Formats: sequence, structure tokens, C-alpha cells
Amino acid sequence: MNSPIVELDLADWRVAGRTEWTAAVEAGRVLYFPHLAFEVLPTERALLREGMLSPQSRNVSLGADGVLKGAGGSAAEQAQLAAMVARFRQQALQLIDGLLPEYRGLLRAAPTSFRPRQVETRRQSVRADDQRMHVDAFPSRPNYGERILRVFANINPAGAPRVWRVGDDFETVARQFLPRAKPYRLWQAKALNALHVTKSLRSEYDHLMLQLHDAMKRDEAYQKSGAQVSMPFAAGSVWVCYSDQATHAVMSGQFMMEQTLYLPPGREVDPQASPLAILTRLVGRPLVGVGAGVGR
Ligand code: SIN
Ligand code: FE
Repeated sequence: MNSPIVELDLADWRVAGRTEWTAAVEAGRVLYFPHLAFEVLPTERALLREGMLSPQSRNVSLGADGVLKGAGGSAAEQAQLAAMVARFRQQALQLIDGLLPEYRGLLRAAPTSFRPRQVETRRQSVRADDQRMHVDAFPSRPNYGERILRVFANINPAGAPRVWRVGDDFETVARQFLPRAKPYRLWQAKALNALHVTKSLRSEYDHLMLQLHDAMKRDEAYQKSGAQVSMPFAAGSVWVCYSDQATHAVMSGQFMMEQTLYLPPGREVDPQASPLAILTRLVGRPLVGVGAGVGR
């Protein structure tokens, strides 16, 4: 396995991109900035506690409209937290604008999240357990090949790394797990849509991405001994990847900022490197769009 990590020794959020970095991200590698820190102000240090999360929520999130969701703490603390998350959002967008200039004007920013929970004490079902290797796929929001680009910052105040495992490239993993995928059924996708389990009709692409996600997480042998490296992302560092393509798991850590950006399908510099193109080649028929899935 080639190293799935590309380390960039940059310490400024304003970056001049290089074509080889874009190619690395589009190949599913993780760009790691060990010396790029999101600065938590001394007055914000008190926000780094689990109590800033409301008991029912997984993350705190801030929408583009400035509305903060999922937060605990007092009203004053929530206002402070909103300002901190907004600052990260602005810096993450600035980073990507410089790092991946080819995507300028094409990306749509999702809400920005603050994740104060300790990873290693979280207990979850196999399917929801991100401590198992997976690629990101959304059960309720079909995306038809839209890309999930993510910027992460470890802001742990005690210096604890956020430890990931990062695995083999998407095509290698897809070749291993596709044979176990249940076939796509249009009538099932229609039923899920009618029942509002999905927000729109699940395409064959979305079905296969979920099947890969689930099959990877369920496979104990792959989890234990599949090709992978352990990657401690230092406190005060940033990393960027296509999380629908880079195979990953989070093993430990606490306090992270995260920004998701969506790129429309086919707008990569090399669309042929995308999960959609790879799966389409492997399956041998269109997986999204007009005609896909009809009659099955
Ligand atoms: C994930 O996408 O699997 C979560 C990553 C993290 O919490 O570090
Ligand atoms: Fe994930």
C-alpha cells in the first residue's frame, strides 16, 4: 500500500495550491498539515468541555445562517462558541480556496461542526461506529455522486492527538467488497423515498456506497488485518480529504472542528478518479441519472 498521507509543512491558512496536491486529494489521500493550527483564544478555553454539547446531540453545528444547533452551556457561552465555530468556518473555506483553486465557485459549504465528545468512550452500533474502517455515505440523503470534501482540525487543549486509521485506496477496497453488495432494486428505493426514510430517490450509486460502508464495518477480519496505517493527527493540526473515498476510522481523541464542502459530481480535475467513476467502471453500467436503475 502506498502511503495514504501527504504531509504539507505549511502554517498559514492562505495557501498557494499545487496541481499535485489536488491530484493527491482526488486519489483519496489525506493532506496533513501538522503545523497549521486553529487558534483557540484564552477566553474560549472554557468551551472545550463535553458539557458544551446538548445531551441529545452528537455534534454542535453552525449553519451559514449563523444558527447554532446542538449546543449546551449558557446563552453567553453559546454566543462565544458560535463565534469560534464561525472563525473556523471562515479559515477552512480560505484554506480550501487556496489549496484547491480548481474548485473555486463550485463548492457548497455544509454546516460547520464542533465535536467535543471523547471518541474512545463512545458506544455505538456497528453501523454507526466510526471506530471501524469505512467510507462516508449518507443513509437518508442520496447524493448521486456529489463529493464529500472535509477539513478537520484537532483543537485538543491537553495535546492529545486524534488518532485515525487510514486504509487502502478506494478501488482496491471496492473490488474487495462489491461482490458482497446486495443488488439495487428500484422498487425498494421508491419505497424508502415514499416512507421518507430517504429525502430523495436513492440511486444505485448511493445504494452501493452504503453497501460498501456497511460491509466494511461488518467485516471483522478486514477491520483487524486489512491494509491500514495508524495516523495520529497532532493537537494543533489540520487535515483534508474526500471522506467518501479515503478509507478511514477514528480511534481516539477529543475536541475537533470539522467543515464539509460538497463538490457537484464530475467537477473534479480528474473525474475518472472519483468513487462514482470507479464504481461505474466496476459495475459496467450507469449508476445515476436518467435511465439508471430503470426496469430493475
Ligand atoms: C468520521 O468521519 O469517521 C469521523 C472522523 C472523526 O470523528 O475524527
Ligand atoms: Fe467517516
